[in-house]
Amino acid sequence: VSTVIAVDGPAAAGKTSTCLALAEIFGLRYLESGRTYRIIAFEALRREIPVDNAREVTGLCDDLIRESRSAGLLTSERYAPDKLRATPVNVAVSAVAKIADVRQRVTSLIRLWAKSQAQCVIEGRDIGTTIFPTAPVKFYLTATPEVRAMRRVRQERAGSYENVLEDVIRRDEADMSRAVSPLAAAEDAIRIDTSGLTLDQVVSRMSSACLN
Ligand code: CDP
Repeated sequence: VSTVIAVDGPAAAGKTSTCLALAEIFGLRYLESGRTYRIIAFEALRREIPVDNAREVTGLCDDLIRESRSAGLLTSERYAPDKLRATPVNVAVSAVAKIADVRQRVTSLIRLWAKSQAQCVIEGRDIGTTIFPTAPVKFYLTATPEVRAMRRVRQERAGSYENVLEDVIRRDEADMSRAVSPLAAAEDAIRIDTSGLTLDQVVSRMSSACLN
């Protein structure tokens, strides 16, 4: 039986960098679930499928799952990070992530992937609430939108601060207001406001909690 550490929170709250550090410290496999929603959005744009057409996007999702042999889609190396983080994908991904049938498929793939891992850390929006509600350790990372936008501008060439801030706020609103698996902290999640903390400080709090 696999042990899952669930890490959720809004856009650019520091999930990826802290999860990678935790994975390194404890020798865990790591999965970035948002990447899968980005791949589906990227392919929809490339194939000119309207991202608000639930039926067509779900069909695309099924094709991609078949093409990459099921859970292979989660870790596919065909997609360069800068492609998946381009502005059009940032915009399209919110619409894709809203589709219940797409979420249901991604959820099944993630559960399947986790089954084959002894221990893993998975980041996303609904890991501790919907995908693994019984995960023994859950974190919910937050920071003010301004801090998150600033970090993202520094960390990648993500555009101007104003544009990144706008994107972060828009995606948070979309994630929190959708009908299925809206972004929210699980009741038993350890909440960490990372606004005034360094990466090392956040990682050290998280690793202490994992050892408790
Ligand atoms: O890295 P960043 O915080 O910018 O976003 P991401 O983790 O790459 O996720 C991109 C988008 O996928 C989010 O804005 C959500 O709409 C969606 N997502 C989701 O709905 N559920 C997840 N478990 C992960 C991501």
